[in-house]
Amino acid sequence: MRTQVAIIGGGPAGLLLGQLLYRHGIDSVVVERKTREYVLGRIRAGVLEAGLVRLMEEAGVADRLHAEGHVHHGTQIAVNGQMFHLDFNGLTGKPVVVYGQTEVTRDLYDAREAAGLTTEFRAEGVAIHGADTDSPHVAFTRDGTEHRIDCDFVAGCDGFHGISRQTIPLAVRREYEKTYPFGWLGVLSRTPPVHDELIYANSERGFALCSMRNDNLSRYYIQCALSDHPSDWTDAAFWAELKRRLPPEVADRLVTGLSIDKSIAPLRSFVTEPMRWGRLFLCGDAAHIVPPTGAKGLNLAASDVHYLHDGLRQFYRDNDCAGIDAYSERALLRVWKAERFSWWFSGLLHRYPDMSPFDLKMQQADIAFLRDNRAQQQAFAENYVGLPY
Ligand code: FAD
Ligand code: DHB
Repeated sequence: MRTQVAIIGGGPAGLLLGQLLYRHGIDSVVVERKTREYVLGRIRAGVLEAGLVRLMEEAGVADRLHAEGHVHHGTQIAVNGQMFHLDFNGLTGKPVVVYGQTEVTRDLYDAREAAGLTTEFRAEGVAIHGADTDSPHVAFTRDGTEHRIDCDFVAGCDGFHGISRQTIPLAVRREYEKTYPFGWLGVLSRTPPVHDELIYANSERGFALCSMRNDNLSRYYIQCALSDHPSDWTDAAFWAELKRRLPPEVADRLVTGLSIDKSIAPLRSFVTEPMRWGRLFLCGDAAHIVPPTGAKGLNLAASDVHYLHDGLRQFYRDNDCAGIDAYSERALLRVWKAERFSWWFSGLLHRYPDMSPFDLKMQQADIAFLRDNRAQQQAFAENYVGLPY
């Protein structure tokens, strides 16, 4: 088989790239290790920046997002039993949209199928060959049969545990990493959200987040120990702990119910440089991870996709390499800013096991400064709604 761009990974980054390329007449094949149902079953992100909404529009897949997504003009920060509001609209003129990553991927798979584009599911042993030559190819097996895709370019959109990043020789690759001494326990429940905006809570028992998917689907997270397992947490224990971390009047209003998903995610900051090697380009979680505080992961995958599809279009339309040559540098400039914001916002809200009384005072002062200072609120809001690209 031959295509112009072989895309490894059928998560949001790979699918969005494939759809944008298709809209501009560029052919691609998506190679995914799992099944469509498996990818759609992974409950992850929920907050979309305006930039990602714009890309979904450009990809022709934004109808359901506009009909069903919830526009949020601000967020709540809770600390010491009290809450304050940050007004994105007043500070930046831009909102965010609450719409699940599962819905984003569903819309993209539906569009891909409607357009008759090829997706190779259940691909095993995927390997990239000749990325440093002018004629790369991707090899994989399925049910014991070997397959080969010859292509002009390879887009490595296969997430943090994928093979694309490992294809870049160690002598070329530089990795930066920070791990955090806690995780997030997330619960999805068919209950009405406790508030019409997200609540990010700093409490002496640790971080908590109240989020949502729609009027009768809530998503809640609490900071937990890395050694915890979801089965350690009964629903009753989860709700009780969440309530302890929220202001009393919020806790009193919280509607609890049966959890329909319960999972634990470790927190990590990670960047690999460069994001290009020859004809291989890394995109999304394959190149970088942010801790989820601030909802930047999916949105960062989207800005990578923007820079890459822009460069590939320039190559095919004008026979000009400037865009693909600048890809890594352009993407990384924005990646590091989102890494900084996610790291800072995580530090603002979590309890670290080794925090001294002085560290706690600094955290409290940092939150008070955000509550009271408009310039700080503006910087927060600009980062939260998404830096321009
Ligand atoms: P992935 O979604 O990881 O997709 C990669 C795909 O590649 C997968 O389908 C995988 O099966 C496939 N693959 C892997 N290896 C191979 C291989 N060898 N061969 C072929 N295919 C392969 N981000 C936000 O922006 N906002 C949020 O609110 C937010 N909340 C989050 C909450 C949680 C609990 C978590 C865990 C993450 C959250 N994120 C959030 C982050 C966001 O989910 C990720 O950044 C996003 O999924 C990245 O998309 P991706 O396509 O780059 O990678
Ligand atoms: C969600 C996840 C986040 O990491 C975040 O900062 C906000 C919302 C969510 O899953 O809804």
